[in-house]
Amino acid sequence: MSAPTALPAAPTSGAAVRTARTRHYVVCAPTYFDVVYAINAWMDPSTPVDADRALQQWADLVETYRALGHRVDVLPAVPGLPDMVFAANGALVVDGVAYGSRFAHPQRAAEAGHHRALLAELGIPVHVAEHVAEGEGDLVVVGAVVLAGTGFRTTRAAHAELAVLLDRPVVTLELVDPRFYHLDTCLMALDDHTVAWFPGAFSAAGQDVVRTLFPDAVEADLADALVLGLNGVSDGRHVVLPVAATGLAAQLAARGYEPVLVDLSELAKGGGGVKCCTAEIRITEEEQS
Ligand code: ARG
Repeated sequence: MSAPTALPAAPTSGAAVRTARTRHYVVCAPTYFDVVYAINAWMDPSTPVDADRALQQWADLVETYRALGHRVDVLPAVPGLPDMVFAANGALVVDGVAYGSRFAHPQRAAEAGHHRALLAELGIPVHVAEHVAEGEGDLVVVGAVVLAGTGFRTTRAAHAELAVLLDRPVVTLELVDPRFYHLDTCLMALDDHTVAWFPGAFSAAGQDVVRTLFPDAVEADLADALVLGLNGVSDGRHVVLPVAATGLAAQLAARGYEPVLVDLSELAKGGGGVKCCTAEIRITEEEQS
C-alpha cells in the first residue's frame, strides 16, 4: 500500500512575510457607467451617479495596480453597457483557457462578446459557457481549486461544465444573502492557500466547506462586508481593498499582508468594488508560447 500523498504545506499564520506574484489584469473604464436598472440589491436608479468621480476613482485603481508592478490591459468601454466597468464578470481565465460568460440578466448579455474579442486578441482560447456563468464574479481561484458561487447568478450546471473544462476541482458554495449576490462580494483569495470571507453570506453547508478547506481563513464582519471589503484583489502580499474596510485592513495587516486602500464608493452604487473591476489573466509562460 502506498503512503498517502501529502498536501502542500500552507504557510504558517501570524505575521509571516508574504510574497507577491506579478499579475496581469484586464479592466474597463467606467466611461458609460450609470445605474439605470436594478439587478442587485445595491442598485437604485433614482440615485444619481457622478461620472467624473467614478472615472477618477477607477483611474486611481489602475494607477495602484501599475505602481505595484502589475500589467493592466484596458478593454474599451461600450456605450449602452453601463455595468461594463465590472470587468471581472466577463470570463474566468485559468490553465490557458477562458470560460467565457453567459450573463444572468439581459441588460449585461452583450458584454460577453466584447470580452471574447479581447481574449482572442490576447491569444487565449475561449469556451463559451452553455449555462449562466458570470466569470470571476462567482468563480474564485484559490491555488488548485476553484470556489464557485451559486444562488443568484452562476448556476450549478455551470460549475459542472467548468469542472469538465478544467482539470481542477470546482467547489460549489451556496450564497443566501441578496446583498452578496456574487461570490466575490463575500470571499476573496488572499494567496494560493487562504481566503478572507464573510460567513453570513453562505448557506450552513457552504460555511462548513469553507471552514474545512481553509482553517486559517480571515473572517470579516458584516460592517466590512457591507462596504465591499471582501471584494478586494490580492497579489499574495498587497491586498487592494476599499478604504472604508478598516477592520478587515487591520486583520490583514496582523496576518502579514499589506493593505493598499482605494476609494471606489461611486462604483459601489452599481454593487461593485475593487475585484468586480478587475479580471485576472492567469497564463503561465509555457501556456503563452
Ligand atoms: N451591477 C453589476 C451586476 O449586478 C455589478 C457586478 C459586480 N461585479 C462583481 N464581480 N461582483 O451585475
